[in-house]
Amino acid sequence: MADIQLIGVVGCGLMGSGIAQVAAQSGYEVIVREVNQELLDAGMKRIKAVLDKDVAKGKINQEDYHATISRLHPTIELEPMADADIIIEVIVEQIAAKRELFAALDRICKPQTIFATNTSSLPVTEVAAATKRPDRVAGLHFFNPVPVMKLVELVRALSTSQETLFTLQQFGERLGKTVVQAQDTPGFIVNRLLVPYLLDAIRCFGEGLASREDIDNGMKLGASHPMGPLTLSDFIGLDTLYYVANVLFDEYKESRFAPPPLLRRMVLAGMLGKKAGKGFYDYPQA
Ligand code: CAA
Repeated sequence: MADIQLIGVVGCGLMGSGIAQVAAQSGYEVIVREVNQELLDAGMKRIKAVLDKDVAKGKINQEDYHATISRLHPTIELEPMADADIIIEVIVEQIAAKRELFAALDRICKPQTIFATNTSSLPVTEVAAATKRPDRVAGLHFFNPVPVMKLVELVRALSTSQETLFTLQQFGERLGKTVVQAQDTPGFIVNRLLVPYLLDAIRCFGEGLASREDIDNGMKLGASHPMGPLTLSDFIGLDTLYYVANVLFDEYKESRFAPPPLLRRMVLAGMLGKKAGKGFYDYPQA
């Protein structure tokens, strides 16, 4: 098996910072790249805030804190990625941007470097095809909040080799995650099952079946879900949910993936959920 020591994380937003943190906490040296200093500083600040809380709660000690921070190497350049063993891409969900990034990484990285995309909606096979190493590209889909969620979906593009899958499986497990493998089909496992459920909950609410609280409590207390579907939709972001639903609907053409009119109108109104301060619920602190 490949000897994995140096990890690259390209993109340090909510998901990228979580992945970089978990990788550093698992003992890897991690190069973290953002496109400008402001975004990089914001991402590093987010990581430190989560680690600070962990120290305050006694989950980690000061020594762990400093060791984790010392393993994180922030940069706004792409070149430091050249020697990485695995690079995880966590940039915007736009195929052109991802293909451009992977083609650039392909030119500068050593031939053995494995590329993984955290995409939740785009074809991993199309991303892989932008490189001259499509056998060494796969999907590695994490869940928000990354430090808490125990799952990673390992997605096999049509071109991904068995060796690449094996290395990424081991890597995911070393991060403390349970790794499930899926073929490169829209939504993989989790979003394919989760998104129709969330859309159905929005339909139920829109049709007046019950109040938002009763719908959420129904699934929280009746099915032991940590969050009800409307709270979870707000948490994911209604724009993100709308976007992923459209991708699934475009590919499968099945009505269960069709975003309900209420969701579209909430997005048009800027009611994007928790991050916007307003969605199905109000979030005064956001
Ligand atoms: N970063 C790090 N740790 C966090 C965190 C974050 N952003 N948010 C919460 N936590 C930690 C808390 O510090 C707390 O830790 P301790 O138990 O050690 O104190 C723990 O998680 C529980 O947090 P809270 O007590 O504040 O709240 P909670 O019990 O309601 O848990 C939750 C919060 C973990 C988010 C939980 O509600 C949950 O699991 N919700 C469902 C989340 C989910 O389904 N995510 C997947 C979304 S889909 C997706 O990501 C894929 C996609 O492609 C769209």
